[in-house]
Amino acid sequence: MKILVTGGLGFIGSHTVVELQQAGFEVVIIDNCSNSSENVLEGIKAITGQTPEFVKMDLRDKNAVEEFFSAHRDISGVIHFAASKAVGESVEKPLLYYENNLNTLVYILQQLSGLKSANFIFSSSCTVYGQADQMPITEDAPVKPAESPYGNTKQIGEEIIRDSCRVYSQLKAISLRYFNPIGAHPSAEIGELPIGVPQNLVPFITQTGVGLRDKLSVFGDDYPTEDGTCIRDYIHVVDLAKAHVVALQRLLEAKNDSNYEVFNIGTGTGSSVLEVINSFERVAGKELNYKVVDRRPGDVIKAYADTAKANKVLGWKANSTLDDAMASAWKWEQKIRG
Ligand SMILES: NC(=O)c1ccc[n+]([C@@H]2O[C@H](COP(=O)([O-])OP(=O)(O)OC[C@H]3O[C@@H](n4cnc5c(N)ncnc54)[C@H](O)[C@@H]3O)[C@@H](O)[C@H]2O)c1
Repeated sequence: MKILVTGGLGFIGSHTVVELQQAGFEVVIIDNCSNSSENVLEGIKAITGQTPEFVKMDLRDKNAVEEFFSAHRDISGVIHFAASKAVGESVEKPLLYYENNLNTLVYILQQLSGLKSANFIFSSSCTVYGQADQMPITEDAPVKPAESPYGNTKQIGEEIIRDSCRVYSQLKAISLRYFNPIGAHPSAEIGELPIGVPQNLVPFITQTGVGLRDKLSVFGDDYPTEDGTCIRDYIHVVDLAKAHVVALQRLLEAKNDSNYEVFNIGTGTGSSVLEVINSFERVAGKELNYKVVDRRPGDVIKAYADTAKANKVLGWKANSTLDDAMASAWKWEQKIRG
């Protein structure tokens, strides 16, 4: 079966392409390389022995999307990763984010709505929950007003899909609400490639560890948590990638309970910033240069997933530990700087 993976050269997309190929799927990638590089194809081939079909294309080009689907009538499912993801940049450039994250989604759904049968997986995010009132966070927790245009694109994106599934009965979709993906493939052939200063904790840690950054700033240690730093649910990107394969198989085998379903994808365990730093120090065998600074406005204090629904309904569970994920991130960082 042929699966379209948009944004398949990116961090999560490339790991998912590997898992899809290893599960026996044929993959076509669309990516405009705005936040990735074509070299990722070599990394994928080094792991799986197969080079996926690659179409360099900007999904904001509606005609190109139409032409792609006319030329690829044999696509059984779409996993849609392509989006812009920097929260801070989204505040500065909201229209770029609304255009890139929503127009692309609409153009793809328009094509799928014309097919006899269509299966669609969407990259959503735990940002839809904001600061949830209860931990761990279940899928029933209310969606809170978004803190950023990026977060809003995920909320609106989910609504667009839900509304579409309501009227196009042949369209089946699943939104996966990721918690905090980290790490790299254990082979160190693919991993996260942040452009410029990393926005996320783990690449900042590994870049500091390798000497590319002077020190890591820890934003606040006076939060109401055990060690005072913020808590997140860090999930190994390979575990996350596998969740996509399982979700897709659920749709392909028509095991879904309704046309539109939502799942949290996390480990179910919260780790503080200091615990993540300790994990790095343990696996890298070196101390990290870090400094506690003031809180950063807008940071959620705690967010970790209740994964019972994904465990039970999808039959999927995250297997890797924080140390496993950190060790893979460190191996990758050393490889790309080496
Ligand atoms: N990484 C995270 O922490 C995280 C958390 C929650 C949700 N997500 C979502 O998961 C998805 C993948 O995230 P990622 O971390 O792999 O990001 P990424 O930036 O590494 O990958 C996205 C890919 O999409 C491509 N792309 C962007 N706009 C495009 C367009 N208009 N046309 C074609 N290709 C385009 C980029 O070049 C890139 O290769 C995104 O939708 C993101 O919002 C990510």
